[in-house]
Amino acid sequence: MKGNCTVILAAGDGVRMKSSRPKVLAEVLFKPMIDWVVDRAVECGFADEDICVVTGHGREILCEHLRDGIQTAVQEERLGTGHAVMQALPFINAHGNSNVLVLNGDSPMIDSETLKLAFEYHMRSGNAATVISANVDNPTGYGRIKRDENGLFIKIVEEKEASEGEKKITEVNSGAYWFNCQALLVALDRLSMDAKYRLNAAKEYYLTDAVEILKSMGQRAATFNSKNSDSVLGANDRYQLMQLNEKARMRVLESHMKNGVSIPCPDGIMISPDAAIGADTEILPGTIIKGKTVIGSNCVIGANSYIESSIIGDGAGVISSHCVEAEISEGVQVGPFARLRPGTKIGAKVRIGNFVEVKNSNVGEGTKISHLSYIGDSDVGSGVNIGCGCATVNYSGKEKFRTVIEDGAFIGCDTSLVAPVRVGENAYIAAGSTITEDVPANSLAVARERQTNKKDWVKIKKPYKR
Ligand code: UD1
Ligand code: CA
Repeated sequence: MKGNCTVILAAGDGVRMKSSRPKVLAEVLFKPMIDWVVDRAVECGFADEDICVVTGHGREILCEHLRDGIQTAVQEERLGTGHAVMQALPFINAHGNSNVLVLNGDSPMIDSETLKLAFEYHMRSGNAATVISANVDNPTGYGRIKRDENGLFIKIVEEKEASEGEKKITEVNSGAYWFNCQALLVALDRLSMDAKYRLNAAKEYYLTDAVEILKSMGQRAATFNSKNSDSVLGANDRYQLMQLNEKARMRVLESHMKNGVSIPCPDGIMISPDAAIGADTEILPGTIIKGKTVIGSNCVIGANSYIESSIIGDGAGVISSHCVEAEISEGVQVGPFARLRPGTKIGAKVRIGNFVEVKNSNVGEGTKISHLSYIGDSDVGSGVNIGCGCATVNYSGKEKFRTVIEDGAFIGCDTSLVAPVRVGENAYIAAGSTITEDVPANSLAVARERQTNKKDWVKIKKPYKR
């Protein structure tokens, strides 16, 4: 895509979303719509520096979100899609004689295959403008592709200006176009000079009119029909956003199933488009997988697990558990009802049982933390057994400290390890201990009051009347 560039329109206010945030940050499968669109441009071969996002409403939040290399332009007033592209003129000019791909920031389902095929057609035909269109069941809200009796493209008619007859047209404008840069510059100039173009119902500069202007100037403007009717889907309100999520969700699930992932019931399963899952892994209902999570093969995930930006090795099980930015090696069993927090690395074949929380810790191979424990800011060796109800006391109220438990140690039930503290290799800790000092290797630490039994105390005192 050398010499070409992309302009993504994203200044819209999203009034219909009823949100204080820019509309294009609304998420589809937990991924902001603008990121879907940027990713498609990158798939077409555009470098970040050749992508310009036109920002407006909530500009600061949007710019903060975008990667550094991506260029931005500002549209101070929302005067329409044509006006939005005008704000990117310095960027387009800098790209000279090449072609510009214009994309709608609120249409995340456009696919790069369509964009590439449309580009080939655009170049082959020597078009000044190529409008990507698609046929949809319900064209309401979209610009309609108007053709003459011979089927030749005439212009795009927006919903607001469409006659009853035109509203019946089911071929619509996707909002994605390829333009020859020089032709677009001339067309935008005409669009801004000629007041008649702003006499439409929205009182806006429509980018769609730029296509008509090019035709009136005798330039070639044509449509490229996408075979993927979902590619035009946009979201203007939260209901459409839910519908987009549902479409995208089923597409993602379908592609995993094609790759050998077992999803016997898709209820409540949402998987981010950027997640990778190995064959023969089973995903059970109610499971949410976010971000760039990587899951190996032969795993069981769910029911009702929440996994975000984590790495899970082959043959692991994560049952009804919560993992965020955690790494889990092969053969690990997590849950039910466990929580792995950021910075956690779990070695192979570890067992993390019910009501166990692990945070910012390393846990060595084969270690068992089976019930009701908290392990925070710790380095736990391999072959360690942590009994029921243990806690690393990692926070002094001011500072966090680390706990080290060396290989083969046995931590009795209900032990508190007050950090900073080190438990040596193969050491034992008696149940109920509060450990405040290091325990040498191979030693037994008992840090609790010795038990005393007072004979017949109850008979004498009768403390409880029945
Ligand atoms: C637009 C097209 C319509 C097409 C549809 C596909 C026009 C006039 N209409 O309609 O033909 O079928 O997309 O989804 O282009 N934006 C700005 N500045 C503005 C106005 C909009 O940056 O002043 C951005 C929005 O943030 C959005 C995109 O442009 O990402 C499209 O704008 P929107 O108002 O949603 O256009 P549609 O009515 O959907
Ligand atoms: Ca829209």
